Order: sequence, then structure tokens, then C-alpha cells
Amino acid sequence: MRDEREMEGVPRVASFRTVAEFKAHLATLPVRLDCDDDLLPPHQNPLAQPIAVHGRTIGNRFATHPMEGWDGTLEGKPTDLVLRRWTHFGISGAKLIWGGEAVAVRHEGRANPHQLCCTPANAEALSALLRTLKAAHRKRFGTTDDLFVGLQLTHSGRWSRPDPDGAAKPRIAFRHPVTDARVGALDPSAMLTDAELAGLIPDYVAAAKFAAEDGYDFVDVKCCHGYLLNELLAAHTRPGPYGGPFENRTRLFREIVAAIRRDVPDLHIGVRLSAFDLVPFRHPQEGEGTRGVPIDVRPHLPWRYGFGVNPDDPTQSDLTESIRFLELCRDLGIRLLNISAACPYYNPHLMRPAMFPPSDGYPPPEDPLVGVARILAAAATLKRAVPDLLVVGSGYTYLQEYLPHVAQAQVRLRHSDFVGVGRMLLSYPELPHHVLTGQPLNRKRLCRTFSDCTTGPRNGMVSGCYPLDPFYKARPEAQAVHEIRRKTGR
Ligand SMILES: Cc1cc2nc3c(=O)[nH]c(=O)nc-3n(C[C@H](O)[C@H](O)[C@H](O)COP(=O)(O)O)c2cc1C
Ligand code: SF4
Repeated sequence: MRDEREMEGVPRVASFRTVAEFKAHLATLPVRLDCDDDLLPPHQNPLAQPIAVHGRTIGNRFATHPMEGWDGTLEGKPTDLVLRRWTHFGISGAKLIWGGEAVAVRHEGRANPHQLCCTPANAEALSALLRTLKAAHRKRFGTTDDLFVGLQLTHSGRWSRPDPDGAAKPRIAFRHPVTDARVGALDPSAMLTDAELAGLIPDYVAAAKFAAEDGYDFVDVKCCHGYLLNELLAAHTRPGPYGGPFENRTRLFREIVAAIRRDVPDLHIGVRLSAFDLVPFRHPQEGEGTRGVPIDVRPHLPWRYGFGVNPDDPTQSDLTESIRFLELCRDLGIRLLNISAACPYYNPHLMRPAMFPPSDGYPPPEDPLVGVARILAAAATLKRAVPDLLVVGSGYTYLQEYLPHVAQAQVRLRHSDFVGVGRMLLSYPELPHHVLTGQPLNRKRLCRTFSDCTTGPRNGMVSGCYPLDPFYKARPEAQAVHEIRRKTGR
């Protein structure tokens, strides 16, 4: 039966009966997405091939993407729900664990009152994360020797909501013509001073020290999704040492990397990057049709408020500086880059293509497969431009039944080195293992991109796969999320 929230004229991925039908649909779209006809047996499958990095071997080409659950304690310690998620990362079969989830380097920089926070007081509790993940992996697969695990470090900047009241407490790097009002960043005290920015470096170093002592292989100095280090890459209009030219906009990032290298020399560094951004999107108004629309930015042209975006036509990306940033990473000795895009608060369709928007979102502006193709094409362009780097691609979950076919093609064609998986692991944690061992997929557990895992936290509840994971289905929040969807029609 058709769900009334589905997009007119856009077939569900589940409606294709064969790869051929799926590919026939892809051929009607204005984008290219490579997809293999057949899955190769495990011993020939490029997804099962190990790869070397920093003198270590990573056992296969699946990566788990970081995914927080808005379910830590108010102090920023893990709960049983957090440990369950990390256990699932461990049993996924993926050998690159990218970050686990965003962990704030200080209280002020937490994106929500339940985000994990890497302070000395939390160190002992946080050490359960890696221990739990590794134990689960070892129990299922016999060894962790070829597992490579990172911890994602963040400051949420503009999108900070650190305190129990859940109120926005934005810390911004520049004035933004649209999102300042949205987060209430109108008071001058919201602007981070140069000294405050420099003052964050010891926090990153302290968190990196914790990660090294705890046994992580790397930290992700997170530069994506509109959070602080990503915002700084776009700080064209900021005066002073952290704004303006590329050298200044990358200054804090470089200073953090240098400080970690100096004080924690044995720890590797990776970066998750929003390689491009576009303008914010919104719900259509009367007479504007049924799809999400970009806001009118003509009064604000040239658009100087994003990274990897064409300033004269900010509905289009421009990867020139993204390539430059990857070259910078390479020159800093960084080898692992995870390519994401945009910002989940104002244009989520770009970074996590979905058929159904979250409750604070807008209907998809395009066939979500176009979004998948766009983000994978960005990863391929960057990999081609800086081939020495090992690139993790993002945005695969919407592919559903055909995730393995597209994933195999991307790695076989060297469009990326790793296939990163996000939401699919919430509904179906063992998908990578099933693909790698040639088992049929469990279609009942395939994420259908209902976005409940975002609608929940947007309404003050923990995140989880309420529609498909029996554990979350049985929780009281499942009914509340269902009600919200019914009321908002989203
Ligand atoms: C519930 C949820 C939490 C997320 N948390 C994080 C996070 O902590 N750090 C991050 O870099 N990305 C986060 N993401 C983005 C995912 O890592 C991933 O990029 C996105 O879901 C697209 O991949 P997918 O299509 O496989 O889901 C989150 C996404 C979801 C749905
Ligand atoms: S709630 Fe479950 S099915 Fe929906 S998007 Fe999240 S993981 Fe996928």
C-alpha cells in the first residue's frame, strides 16, 4: 500500500524486483551511479579485500559511520543504549570503525544534553565503549588484529545545545544570514573570539590523549555537518586570523592537528569532511508543489556562508577548495578521509538521502537516488584528485537491496576505498557481514529511510530504529514517534 508521504512519481527501491529493473530506473535519472549486475563471491569480492594504512592492515572495505543516539547521561557518559549500539558496530563485520559517534571535547560544544563528552571525569565510563565494541567483534570474528577504530571528536559550534534544558546555546564563527535567526545566535556573545577558538586546542589534545591511552587507533578531527570546524572552513566573512583566505579558515584545524601530533605522536588522525554544502531548504508553501525547495538567497549573493559551494549559484557545489583541503590533509600526514556533505539541520537530503523526511525536515526535493549519486560522485572526484588518501564514501543506506551492488562497483572502480554505512546499521547491524560472506539479505531489516531515528531526537527522545528493530519497537517512544509522524504528516 502506498504511504501518503511518499513522493509522487518516485518508485520505492523495494519495488524493483531485480538489479536490472533498478538499473533501468537509474538510467532515467539525470545522474550516473555505477552499480554491478552480480555480486562476486567472497574470495573475489573487492569489498572483502584488506588494505594497508599506517603500517596496519584493515580487514575489509566496510566502515561503520559515526551515529550518536542522544542517549548518554547528562554528564556525557555512555548508557546501556550507547553500549548496545557500539556492540552492534562490533558485530557488523566492518573492519573500519569510523568514530563510533560524535563525542564533544567540552561541555559547551555538545550538540544535545545527552551527547557523550570527553572530560577527565568521564574517562573511566567512556572506556567501556571500545572495550565493549572490541569484545563483541572478537567474540563474533575471532580477532581484532585487522580492526581499525577511531573516536570522533567534535565541538558543535552553531548547533550546540549542551544543557539539560535543551536550549540552543550557539557558539558561532561568523554571522549567517539564515541560520543565526534559527538558532538564536543574535547576541554578540555567541561569536567565538580568536582567543576562545585557540583555547579549544588543549581540549582536542586532551581527548586525543584519552583516545590513545584507551587503545583507539585514530581520532577523527570532525570537519563536517556544519559543526564548528566545518563552519570555520566557510568563515570567508570572519575578520582576523581564523577567517578570510583558505590559510586562515584552515588555521584552527591545522593547529589542532599539530598539537595532537606533538603531544600524542603515536595516534593517527582521520577527518570526516562535509565536502560540499548548498543553501538551506524548506517546506514548500501553497502553490509551490509538494517537494522541498531551496530558500531564496538572491539577497545574499555572492553566497559566502558555505564550504564547497559555488558562491554565485549556491544551489551548486564547487569542489575546488575541497580538493585543496584534501591536499592539505595529505601534506599533514593524514591518510583517512571520510567524505560526507552539507548539514543535517537545513539540507539533510544531501547527506542522508531518504524517502521520508524527519519531523523538522521537508519533503525530498528529488529522487533520493540523485542525492546518493551526488555524494558518491563527490567522493570519487576527491579520490581521483588525491589518490594517496584512503577515502570512505557516505550515503549508501538509501540503496537498500542494491547497496551491495553499488558498494562493490564503487570499490572495484576505485571511486572510494571504503563503503561507509550509517542508518542501515541501526536497522540491520549485520548487513556488512552478510554481504561479505555471500549470504542473502534479510529484507525485513533493510532500512527504508523512515527517518524515525532523527524524528525521535528532534522531539527530545532517544534515537533508534523504531520501525524495524524489535528492541526499539517495544519502547514507549515508538508510539510517541508514530504519533508525531501522524500529526505532522512527515
Ligand atoms: C541518528 C543519526 C545519528 C548520526 N550521528 C552522527 C554523528 O555522530 N557523527 C557524524 O559524523 N554523522 C552522524 N550521522 C550521519 C551518518 O554518519 C551518515 O553520514 C548518514 O546517516 C548517511 O549515511 P547512511 O545513508 O548510510 O545513513 C548520524 C546520522 C543519523 C541518522
Ligand atoms: S528509523 Fe530505522 S528504518 Fe527509519 S531511517 Fe532510521 S534506521 Fe532507517
